[in-house]
Amino acid sequence: MGINKLSGTFPSSIFNLSALFTLSILQNQIQGTIPSDVGKTLPNLQVFNVASNQFTGTIPSSISNATSLLKFEVQSNKLTGQVPDCRKLHDLQYFNIQLNHLGSSKNGDLSFLSGLTNATELRKLIIADNNLGGTLPTSISNLSTTLQKIWFQSNQLDGSIPDEIVNLVSLESLAMWYNHFTGNIYTNIGKLSMLVELDICMNELSGSMPSTLGNLTKLSKLFLEYNNLQGIIPSSLGECQSMQALDLSNNNLNGVISQQVIGLTSLSMLLNLSSNHFTGSLPMEVGMLKNLGELDVSDNMLSRELPRSLGGCESLEVLHLQGNFFNGSIPLSTSLLRGIQDLDLSRNNFSAEIPKFFWGFLFLKNLNLSFNDFWGPVPNEESKKRGSSHSLKLIIPLEAGLPLLGIAMVLSYFFLRSSRKEKKEISLNTWRTLFCKCHMILSSKLPMGSLQLV
Ligand SMILES: *[C@@H]1O[C@H](CO)[C@@H](O)[C@H](O)[C@H]1NC(C)=O
Ligand SMILES: *[C@@H]1O[C@H](CO)[C@@H](O)[C@H](O)[C@H]1NC(C)=O
Ligand SMILES: *[C@@H]1O[C@H](CO)[C@@H](O)[C@H](O)[C@H]1NC(C)=O
Ligand SMILES: *[C@@H]1O[C@H](CO)[C@@H](O)[C@H](O)[C@H]1NC(C)=O
Ligand SMILES: *[C@@H]1O[C@H](CO)[C@@H](O)[C@H](O)[C@H]1NC(C)=O
Ligand SMILES: *[C@@H]1O[C@H](CO)[C@@H](O)[C@H](O)[C@H]1NC(C)=O
Ligand SMILES: *[C@@H]1O[C@H](CO)[C@@H](O)[C@H](O)[C@H]1NC(C)=O
Ligand SMILES: *[C@@H]1O[C@H](CO)[C@@H](O)[C@H](O)[C@H]1NC(C)=O
Repeated sequence: MGINKLSGTFPSSIFNLSALFTLSILQNQIQGTIPSDVGKTLPNLQVFNVASNQFTGTIPSSISNATSLLKFEVQSNKLTGQVPDCRKLHDLQYFNIQLNHLGSSKNGDLSFLSGLTNATELRKLIIADNNLGGTLPTSISNLSTTLQKIWFQSNQLDGSIPDEIVNLVSLESLAMWYNHFTGNIYTNIGKLSMLVELDICMNELSGSMPSTLGNLTKLSKLFLEYNNLQGIIPSSLGECQSMQALDLSNNNLNGVISQQVIGLTSLSMLLNLSSNHFTGSLPMEVGMLKNLGELDVSDNMLSRELPRSLGGCESLEVLHLQGNFFNGSIPLSTSLLRGIQDLDLSRNNFSAEIPKFFWGFLFLKNLNLSFNDFWGPVPNEESKKRGSSHSLKLIIPLEAGLPLLGIAMVLSYFFLRSSRKEKKEISLNTWRTLFCKCHMILSSKLPMGSLQLV
């Protein structure tokens, strides 16, 4: 009866069909509670799936008497209270209680986990998005080695992630993000050789990134952002040749960005190194990221000129370089970034004419050049027509020392006039020499040529 629009409460008589193997009513709008004697009245149950309904109340402890259970799925309901003991459910393969209000945010909420060590065929253990608190018991190491998926994210868990977790050698997906975990990422993590996804972001993890992460050659997503990780990115990460998304943003990482990491050609979705303390230049190997969609190295201490190879990142849609010390001009090869939508070069030390090829980027929605030393023409009516249907938000710095309102009026007049003349180039350089440190937004959402001061 799954995936319908059934509503109301569930007829309790169904819970008396003692021969029932499968009870699956997922994705309806059924209300009410799960009968407290469900494990007694349905002793032969193998599949219990009431996911995505509106059940309230607790998970009855009698469930532990349905000893034939293979799949227990109650995710996406409004269940409360403690998770019952499941030590008799030896055949359990899927256990999913995600997205409920289970637990008390206190120690003890995870005591049911040790009972699950009896489920020697367990493959998915999903307890994410609840109010479960306390530390992870070391008995987690005795969970079945058949476990492929552990999702504990968005709870109130604290303490460290026990090293013993590496006993779970079949793990493919480990998600523990948005909890309060502290301590280090252990060297042993490199033993989880089947890992495809490791997401432990938004915790309070510290210490350095172990180089053994490089042994996880199947890893395709590594999310460590918003922790307190220190030290360098181990160059061994370059061994992770299946990596598609890597987010290390908002940590205390430092040192140079190694060429092995910036040249990890498998990266396709995201490379985010933002808000760390990286120094040195953007290595030229960045140009090897041909399939990468989003590159963010903003708010670091990167310097020197951008590598000419940058144009090799031909799939880029988002390029965030703001908040560094990049200088010089924008390499000509950047004109090859034809799919770019969001280009932020602000707060750097660029000193160049605004490249004309920017105005040929058809998908550009956001271009931020502020707090640099750029000058040169901005799009006129003609190039806007060619750029056609998209709305471009352009932010350019001017330098000014006169009363701001006055400048706005002068510039508005200037732009309104010039917008009627095709191919007229506005030399911001001229204005720059007259006015200091004023920032101007030119938005095509506003009437053509009108200006806003910020
Ligand atoms: C499980 O079944 C046994 C035997 O019928 C019974 O004594 C026990 O109370 C039941 N446990 C739960 C939690 O309902
Ligand atoms: C495993 O199951 C047996 C029998 O059902 C039980 O006696 C034992 O306590 C269980 N182990 C754990 C760790 O709960
Ligand atoms: C894991 O299981 C073994 C054998 O059953 C037992 O001796 C050990 O105490 C268990 N470890 C934990 C941390 O529960
Ligand atoms: C991978 O593991 C082996 C031992 O299992 C170790 O010698 C090697 O250094 C590890 N590689 C990396 C990149 O950590
Ligand atoms: C990179 O990470 C920062 C901070 O975590 C975030 O604000 C930014 O949106 C991310 N960039 C991209 C392109 O996703
Ligand atoms: C950029 O800065 C470096 C020092 O970081 C300096 O050597 C180089 O000359 C600068 N380049 C330009 C074009 O200003
Ligand atoms: C442009 O960049 C500046 C400096 O980084 C920032 O303060 C501003 O919010 C940005 N504007 C937009 C619209 O992104
Ligand atoms: C920025 O460039 C100017 C002029 O080229 C130079 O004097 C200044 O030291 C540079 N600032 C940084 C932080 O590199």
